[in-house]
Amino acid sequence: MSLGIGVIGAGIMGADHARIIAGQIAGAHLVAIADADLARARSVAAETGAKLATDDPLAVIGDPAVAAVLIASPDATHADYTLACLKAGKPVLCEKPLAPKTEDCLTVVEAEMKGGKRLVQVGFMRRFDPAYGEMRAALQSNDFGPALMFHCAHRNASAPSFFTSAMSINNSCVHEIDIARWLLAAELKTVRVIKPRASSAAGFDDPLLVVFETDQGQVVDVELYLNCGYGYDIKGELVCETGTISLAPPVNSETRAAGVSSFRFAPDWRPRFAAAYRLQNQAWVNSITSGKPAGASAWDGYVASAVAAAGVRALESGAAEAIHLEPKPAFYV
Ligand SMILES: NC(=O)c1ccc[n+]([C@@H]2O[C@H](COP(=O)([O-])OP(=O)(O)OC[C@H]3O[C@@H](n4cnc5c(N)ncnc54)[C@H](O)[C@@H]3O)[C@@H](O)[C@H]2O)c1
Repeated sequence: MSLGIGVIGAGIMGADHARIIAGQIAGAHLVAIADADLARARSVAAETGAKLATDDPLAVIGDPAVAAVLIASPDATHADYTLACLKAGKPVLCEKPLAPKTEDCLTVVEAEMKGGKRLVQVGFMRRFDPAYGEMRAALQSNDFGPALMFHCAHRNASAPSFFTSAMSINNSCVHEIDIARWLLAAELKTVRVIKPRASSAAGFDDPLLVVFETDQGQVVDVELYLNCGYGYDIKGELVCETGTISLAPPVNSETRAAGVSSFRFAPDWRPRFAAAYRLQNQAWVNSITSGKPAGASAWDGYVASAVAAAGVRALESGAAEAIHLEPKPAFYV
């Protein structure tokens, strides 16, 4: 049996997801694609073989041939489309964030619980990245002892002109927020944001250093530098009691010439996390078939948005901010 998938959003991520579903996923096929810009939807449908191209996302959700929906439209649309999928009883993979506002995340959480079935997965694809997977397995082996610190860097070659420091936290750091919780099996309790001297290439406070404390006393520090100039570079190092575990650069080749060894950085997140997006989407399809949820839940989506919101408060206040979370419902344990 092959699941019919509908995609909402045919921009950078939606087009990428449509190509992955159409060409790289077993047990699923692309049926429909919607975008507010009909020409974009049509162009991606023509490329991927989707039968329906529309500017009406609700037509995709309501299409009987669509068994599950992948949402890759702008952040502010996520909650409403996810709620429409829940109302239709259809599983949904929603790109991060589940919603920019924590109250909207909680509305989704409540709607899912009311339906009595886990139907929402949030697109925190790093949970499927082979390098982070190895890091987690190494930590869980106990060969290195418990984790004490997690050093991260999130660098982009350049940020778009509309980018802001708050977006650094909401759109970029949110990936480190989710992966830190997942790796450490801990919750983030406080957050502080330090503003180093700003890069002359940036029109906002960039870089930032975001420092979290976990409920197990660990420190997670995240350097966000979205105008680093040289490429897309994601770093992570877990410092444990008797050793360290680091992400190795995901490259297939390096060159050596004129006394120098070098490798190329990915220009952006799509090539760096290509395997993660594919494995995430396959795990989502498999989870629908098996009925066993995979990846980040709607609850994880809520927590990530709540932690990011505290990060924005810390950015503005300059002080350490406490992160307050609702009690976790048994539904998500
Ligand atoms: N997981 C990741 O690594 C990752 C990376 C980048 C972006 N994202 C997320 O993916 C989503 C899409 O980002 P993007 O970079 O593809 O953006 P984009 O601007 O390239 O694409 C968004 C598309 O949505 C369409 N659109 C606008 N309003 C719409 C509506 N109401 N209904 C349907 N379509 C609408 C636009 O026409 C556009 O084609 C965002 O939520 C973003 O935060 C995730």
